[in-house]
Order: sequence, then C-alpha cells, then structure tokens
Amino acid sequence: MNCAERLVEIFGSQADVARAFQLDRAVVNNWVKTGYVPARWAMEVEQLTDGRILALDVLNDAAARKPVRVKSRPDDYVSAVHGSDAMIKFAPAKRIQSFHPPQRTLMGPGPTEIHPRVLTTMSQPAIGYLDPIFVEMMEELKSLLRYAYQTKNPLTFPVSGPGSVGMEYCFVNMVAPGDKVVVCRNGVFGGRMIENVERAGGVAVVVEDGWGEPVDPQKLEDALKKNRDAKIVAFVHAETSTGVQSDAKTLVEIAHKYNTLTIVDAVTSLGGTPVLVDEWGIDAIYSASQKCLSCTPGLSPVSFSDQVVERVKARKDKIHSWFMDMNLLLGYWGATTRTYHHTAPTNSLFALHEALLLIREEGLENAWARATRHHLALKAGLEAMGMKFLVNEKYQLPQMNAVMCPEGVNEAEVRKRLLNEFNLEIGAGLGPLAGKIWRFGLMGYSCRPENVMVCLSALGSVLDDMGLPIHVGDAESAAHGAYAQMHVKDAQRKKKAA
Ligand SMILES: Cc1ncc(COP(=O)(O)O)c(C=O)c1O
Repeated sequence: MNCAERLVEIFGSQADVARAFQLDRAVVNNWVKTGYVPARWAMEVEQLTDGRILALDVLNDAAARKPVRVKSRPDDYVSAVHGSDAMIKFAPAKRIQSFHPPQRTLMGPGPTEIHPRVLTTMSQPAIGYLDPIFVEMMEELKSLLRYAYQTKNPLTFPVSGPGSVGMEYCFVNMVAPGDKVVVCRNGVFGGRMIENVERAGGVAVVVEDGWGEPVDPQKLEDALKKNRDAKIVAFVHAETSTGVQSDAKTLVEIAHKYNTLTIVDAVTSLGGTPVLVDEWGIDAIYSASQKCLSCTPGLSPVSFSDQVVERVKARKDKIHSWFMDMNLLLGYWGATTRTYHHTAPTNSLFALHEALLLIREEGLENAWARATRHHLALKAGLEAMGMKFLVNEKYQLPQMNAVMCPEGVNEAEVRKRLLNEFNLEIGAGLGPLAGKIWRFGLMGYSCRPENVMVCLSALGSVLDDMGLPIHVGDAESAAHGAYAQMHVKDAQRKKKAA
C-alpha cells in the first residue's frame, strides 16, 4: 500500500485526510490517483499520523514515482529530514517557505478584513518615528481619531498595543491604590475590567447583569448610592462576547450625578454604532484598530478629557507601569513635544491613518447605517433558517450578531467546515456561552453585502449537509427581501426629501 492509500486508511476517507492537512479534497484525490504523496509533505505526514507513516516512507515513495533532484539540497537531506541532525527538526530550512495566508472571509468578532487601500499604505517604505513627515502624519491621525470619537479632547491618540493595552492604560493611570471603582459586568470584557482594577490596587464594586442583557442603569445607580466614595464607573459599551449594546449616554449621566469619572470600552462600538464622547461626557475611552476601524490589529485608540489628564498629572504616587505612564507618553503623543518614548509601530500607524481616512470619506453616519443595513439582511437570513438571536432586538448590536446554535448540532464542526470548505470564519461563544452560540461580525470592511450572502449560503449548505431541516436558498432569499425593502424605504425617503 502506498503512503497516499495508507493516509486514507488511517484517517477514514479522502475528505478526512484533506481536513487534517487543511487541503482541498482535489489535492488528496490527486495523491491517491498518482499513487504517491509529494515529498514536500513528508514531515507533516509523519507528524499528523503520529509516526505511523514515516517521513522517509513518503520520500521513498515519491522518489520512486517521481525522481526529482533538487540541486541545492545536500546529499544527506533525506537523513537530515528524518531527524539525524538534532537541530534541524526545529526548523528544516528547505521546508520553510514565505508565508502566504489564505484569502478568508472574516465574519467573526474581529479581526476584520482589511481594505486594500489600508494594506497598500501599510507596505509603504519605513520611516523614522521622529521623521518630520511622520510627525505631520501623527497630527492628522489624532484629528481623524477625534472625528471617529466625536471629541475635541486634545489627548486622543493610538496606544501601541491591542485593545487590552488600551484598557490597561486607562485603569493603570486612573486608578490609584485603594480607589473604589464600580465595574458593570455583563460579559467577558467587564470581567477583564475588574481584573484591571484589582491589579492597579483598586477596589472593584461589581454590578452584575446577565450575559446578553445590557447594563441596567438602575443597578448602577443603586451601587453608586451605596458607594458614595466611588471614584470611577467602568463599563463596556458594546459587549463583543454577547452582541449587546448598553446605553452609554445614560450610564455616564448617572456616573456624573455621583461625581465619578467614567471609563468606557468602545472596542467593538467605535465606527460601527454611535460613540459620541463629548456629547455624552465620557471621561476616558479606549477602542481597538481591528474591529469596526478595519485596520491591522495592534493599536488601541484612546481619548481622555482634560479633567482626567489633570488628575493623572496630579498623582503623587508612581504609576505602576513605565510603558503606560500617561505622563511619560505625553512627551511623544502630547500637544507640543515629540521625544522618544518607545519605537512607535510606524507602518501600522500609516495603516490606521488610511483606515480612519476611509471612514472620514464615507462619513461616520454612513458607516453606522451600513452596519445596520447589512445586519438587517443577515438577521433576516439567519431567522429564515430558524435561528434565534441571543439578545433582545432593542439592544442588538448591528456589527456583532450572536445567535443560538440549533439544538443537537456540533457547533465546532460547523465552524470548522465553514473555514475549511468555504474559507469563512465566524466566532464561537465564550465563557458560559461556549458551545451555545455563534457570533457573526459585520465590522468595518467585512461589513459588505457579498459577505452577508456568502455567509448565509455557506452556513445553509453546511447545516443541510449535516442533516438539519434547512432549505438551502431560503436564507439568501430572505436577505434579498430585506435589502429590497430597505431600497424601497430609501427611495421613499429620498422622494419625500426632494
Ligand atoms: C469589548 C472588548 N474589549 C476589549 C477587547 C480586547 O481587545 P484586544 O483583543 O485587541 O486586546 C476586546 C477584544 O475582542 C473586546 O471585544
């Protein structure tokens, strides 16, 4: 039996071999047809079969069927690959090639697909982080961020690091040891805020709401009445783990009534739903580049009111992080000076500049409307397949759609098939919702009609294939219907306005 046949015997079928190797079925079919596995797969074969098929067997098979001599290979290549050299197994150089990720449709909770203009900008030549041209770009970047956040806060800039760093940046600067902070938790990320308060030496007072419920303003008010010495209120505006939106304006109003500052997580909301920092009076806010801003991950836009900046400047104790100390970082991102603090991720910042420029060109309100439009179409399609949303319609985020998995379906298998067969990524549930929900993101550049249609079509096909009572095509048809209704309404609105 040749190695191709042995693989099929071990894994059960050609499709299973294809899945294990993350290959198209046609490739495996070709291995079986030609009677050998190409030599370049030798290591993977040995690894994935736990040594039941040796790399050497694959190489021998392949050499017998298709004797190719690669000139640059040393004569002892075969024995080296087989492990005679203790070091080569960590990085067999001949087998490592340039990395080319597959083209995926990203409809999970982030990261999102990146606009080609942003990718092009990112690949521009490197320049220094104090280059006068770069410094000019930094000023534009700050003003584009002020637009996205709808704020005049001078201290609005991207922290180098993902959303978690922006979160930590707020807490480590604003929470002094012993400070009481009321944290509203209704999902994963509220839990992380509590962790941050405690690590900064603060005392967290937790206001709990169910996963999938918005933060209850009354519960916050009750907690503040009981804790008049609280200094800060923190909450997540758009809880990515459930797809629920809380009423940030009301929560901030209540917090201010009790003289506390506010820290708001806008990681999933910024660019997808209204975030009006000045109008709502938010004191400190952070987001992330890879969600509705549709940029490469690794940057966290933050914005602070003057009151927060003054308070941090007045702190007598040393802030517990050198990298995140606002007073030190002001020297690089502040209004006047540009002195070395750390090496800024220049090309990622070019990318964020372009991503924000795209939002500026589209118009924030249009970006929000786009999210709602495609959410309504996706929702119509998912509901046509019998799926129920986790969150009450009134609080649903358009850019993060959490639906209950149909009874009896192997949800992880569905996601795996979507990825392997349709190149489509959707999100799983987290914490108590693991295995129970799927999360469909409609963020930034991923929020496009073709993605809605691909998603509904692929999901319908996989569920039908797995034996669920789904009529393939119903979901797409419902989504088309939803788009058509929206077109009619738009046309009527335009006519009225004319
Ligand atoms: C609401 C929320 N806050 C914080 C984070 C952390 O962001 P990051 O993964 O970029 O560190 C996430 C990430 O998904 C999030 O959704």
